[in-house]
Amino acid sequence: MPESRATWSPTSWHDRPVVQQPDWPDAGALEQSLKHIASMPPLVFAGEARSLQTELAHVAAGNAFLLQAGDCAESFEEFSADNIREKLRVILQMAVVLTYSVGVPIVKVGRIAGQFAKPRSSPTEMVGELELPSFRGHIVNDANPSEAARIPNPDRLVQAYHQSASTLNLLRAFTKGGFADLSRVHAWTQEFVASSPEGERYEQVAAEIERALTFMRACGIDTESNPNLSQVDVFTSHEALILGYEEALTRQDSLTGGWFDCSAHMLWIGERTRDLDGAHVEFLRGVGNPIGCKIGPTTNAEFVLELCEVLNPSRIPGRLTLITRMGADKIEDGLRPLLRAVADAGHPVVWACDPMHGNTYATANGRKTRHFDDVVAEIGGFVRAHRAERTWPGGIHVELTGENVTECLGGGDDLVDTDLDDRYETVCDPRLNARQSVDLAFRVAELLRDFT
Ligand code: TRP
Ligand code: MN
Repeated sequence: MPESRATWSPTSWHDRPVVQQPDWPDAGALEQSLKHIASMPPLVFAGEARSLQTELAHVAAGNAFLLQAGDCAESFEEFSADNIREKLRVILQMAVVLTYSVGVPIVKVGRIAGQFAKPRSSPTEMVGELELPSFRGHIVNDANPSEAARIPNPDRLVQAYHQSASTLNLLRAFTKGGFADLSRVHAWTQEFVASSPEGERYEQVAAEIERALTFMRACGIDTESNPNLSQVDVFTSHEALILGYEEALTRQDSLTGGWFDCSAHMLWIGERTRDLDGAHVEFLRGVGNPIGCKIGPTTNAEFVLELCEVLNPSRIPGRLTLITRMGADKIEDGLRPLLRAVADAGHPVVWACDPMHGNTYATANGRKTRHFDDVVAEIGGFVRAHRAERTWPGGIHVELTGENVTECLGGGDDLVDTDLDDRYETVCDPRLNARQSVDLAFRVAELLRDFT
């Protein structure tokens, strides 16, 4: 273990090997952007990150379930009130189905208001005959296939900050201002969902909730006077990839003196940056936010235990979420030894299942996709592994959108290869559409039935 691990500061990651950072062509312009962001108000407050950690502690203890969901990558172009509202709608629908069917609180965390940066497997990519610098997300460059569009531009860091601020503002307005009121449970269904089998199933749950609310109103408890029924907390999260940006938003909490990365409530480390001696682990180990780490199919128990020691040496419940993404065929056998090792060591982690990233493949015409059945199958294997090891399958981490896109195959519409051309709009990985997402919530609820 490197000696410098004893002393952490928001800049201590500078001394560590760092991967996946853009090649900013103009160091002066980069510094200016980062200085500007460092002078701006934080996006979230440390106290909010602490309450998310408290909620995640309930998940770690097996008394709540985590729903983390949103875009693969947010877009500067597809940025609108409608887009944010539709995404929130689906998340609320999924949350209400899960709350009603599983019967435990659902901790809602969006991949939203900051999920802009993408790690890439190669610094360049071929577009036809052209070799171009890879697209790294709108916080860095543009996806257009031209040399000029792919040059990293630090003005984008500032734009990402501002887009995150307005997204968060609207989320706060919607979640606290009446949109999330349980009496509106029917209103969250979009027309294209309502007419489908998943939609009808949803309408049944909604009708039962409405009856329960009517009963409670008759008993003297109404949604107007009970914020628990009329409001939700939707927390924000993203992959902490561009460390200069994260450092610029890292602030000292006036209440406790601790450091918090105030770009989001929760941050995670990706599969490609989880080097124990690398810069990303070094940076995140020192911030007080709840943090996550992706766990791919090559991970062994020894690594996971070291990761737990480095990121959560004080064993604070809710501090660390391990997000597995192994692939539908590998998860059950791959996960069991990890569950056992972590349980034996007494580390209080949240286990969440990312059923998307281990199941991506290219169709014959070269489009990246995922099949709904593989997504469900990975969650099935995840739940079976937990059942066998007597641990709690704490949550799911999914890529979705509220729009009626055609990016993932299967699901209620039984989308096939040739449908992908209709509405394939993602700037990065294929996302579940609104129908597939509601369907998934029901499948997860079924998998968790009678869980002991
Ligand atoms: N506040 C509770 C919760 O967040 C109940 C609730 C209100 C709710 N509106 C909701 C749950 C919308 C799910 C979806 O769990
Ligand atoms: Mn993705």
